[in-house]
Amino acid sequence: MDKLLITGGSILKGQVDIAGAKNSVLPLMAATLLTDEVVELSNIPHLQDVTYAIQLLSGFGVDVCLTERMTVKFQANDLTSVEASYAIVKSMRASILALGPLLAKQGEAKVALPGGCTIGARPVNIHLDGLRAMGADITVEDGFIHAKADRLKGTTFEMHPVTVTGTENLMMAAVLAEGEMVLKNAACEPEVVDLAEFLNAMGAQVSGAGTSEIRIQGVEKLHGVEYAVVADRIEAGTYMVAAAITGGCVRVNHVNVEHLQLITEKLIQAGAEVTVGSDWIEVDMQGRSPVPVNIETAPYPDFPTDMQAQFLALNAVANGDSTVIETVFENRFMHVPELLKMKADIQLDGRCATVKGVQNLVGATVSATDLRASACMVLAALVAKGDTLIEQVHHIDRGYERIEEKLGSLGATIKRLHA
Ligand code: EPZ
Repeated sequence: MDKLLITGGSILKGQVDIAGAKNSVLPLMAATLLTDEVVELSNIPHLQDVTYAIQLLSGFGVDVCLTERMTVKFQANDLTSVEASYAIVKSMRASILALGPLLAKQGEAKVALPGGCTIGARPVNIHLDGLRAMGADITVEDGFIHAKADRLKGTTFEMHPVTVTGTENLMMAAVLAEGEMVLKNAACEPEVVDLAEFLNAMGAQVSGAGTSEIRIQGVEKLHGVEYAVVADRIEAGTYMVAAAITGGCVRVNHVNVEHLQLITEKLIQAGAEVTVGSDWIEVDMQGRSPVPVNIETAPYPDFPTDMQAQFLALNAVANGDSTVIETVFENRFMHVPELLKMKADIQLDGRCATVKGVQNLVGATVSATDLRASACMVLAALVAKGDTLIEQVHHIDRGYERIEEKLGSLGATIKRLHA
C-alpha cells in the first residue's frame, strides 16, 4: 500500500486545474447503460473509482474505449450480463447505480449488496423501495439484490432522508418507464443536476432537477450523446482549504463558481480574501492564521458533508474555538483520532466535534480511513511541524487525481512512497 510523506511548513501558492467530479462521472457512466448508441464522456477525472466503474461496465459487456486523455466512449448495445459481482461492489459501493439503468433497459439486474463503510451503515432501502413502487420485483438473498420488471411504471415516491444516489438511481430507472415519475424530497446536489442534464441530452424528459421535486416523463428510447462531466466542487473546495490552512494563495481553475458559494463564504469568514472569476476562484490567506468557523453539514445547498473533514483540519489550527456538527452520516469523524495523534485539541460528543485551535500540529504517522478523512490528514500534514507519514492512501486515490503532483506544483513538500 502506498504512503504519502509530507513535510509541513510550505505556504501554497499558484494555480490548480480542477478535474471532473467523481460523484458525477459515476452516475453518468451508469447512465450509458440506458442507450444502444455511442456515448462519449469528456472531462473524466483520473481516479481509481473511474477505473472500477469501467471494470463494472465492461463486466456487463459495455464496449469501453479510451479515446484521448480524459475522454472515454461507451456503447451498451450488446450486453452479456446484468450482474455486478461482490468483488466490484466491495471496491466501489457506487456500483449500486447500475441497478436502475439495468432494470430500465434490460428488465433485470443482479447487484451485490454494498456493505457499510467506515462513515456509516449506508443502507440502500430507499433505492429498493422506490423501484418496488415502480413495479419491480425485488428479492435480497445471499448478499445479492435481484430485481426484475417487464416495464417499470412511473409513480409518486417520497424519499426520507434525502439520498443523492437514491435520487439518481430512481431518476435513471424512470427515464424509460411508462408514464410520469415524481420524486419528492429529492437531492438537489449539482451532481444530480448534471445527471438530469445528461439524460435530457440523450432524449429523456427530466424536469425540476436541483429542486426537491423532480418529474420524469418516460420515453421509448434514448440516443447517444457527447457530454462533459461537471467540475468537482469537493476537489476544488479541498484545494481552497489548502490555501487557507497554509496561509497561501491558490487559484482553482475550471470550476462552477455557483457550486462553491457556501465554501467561499465560509473561507471568507475564516479570514481569506476571495476573488471569484467566471470559472475560477482565488483564495488568498495573506499569511494569516485562520479564524474559527462553525460548521453544520446538511444536504445541498447547505454545507456539504464531503467538506466537513477538510474544515475540521482548518479549525484545528484556527485562533479560537469552533464546533463541527455532522448530520448526514453517523460515523464521519474517523479523522479525529488521527488529528489527535498530531496534537489537535478536539472533543467528540456524538455528532458534534468541539475544536480548540492550537498554535501547531505536530507531524506523526497517521492512517487514512476514508476518502475525505484522507484529505483532512493531507491538509493537517501541510501545516504541521515536521514530517507526517500518511498510510492507506488508496483511499485518497479514489477521489483526488494526482494529488502529490497538484500539491507539489503549489509548493508542498510531498512524495509518494510505493509499498
Ligand atoms: C453520495 O453518497 C456521495 N457519493 C457521497 O460522497 C456523499 O457524501 C453523499 O452522497 C452525501 O452527499 C456519490 O455520489 C457516489 P446518501 P450516497 O444516499 O448517495 C441515508 C465522497 O466522499 N440513506 O445521500 O451513498 C444514508 O445512510 C462520498 O465523495 C438511507 O437511509 O449518500 C445517509 O445517512 C462519501 N437509505 C443519508 O441517507 C438509502 O437507501 C445520505 O446518504 C440511502 C441513503
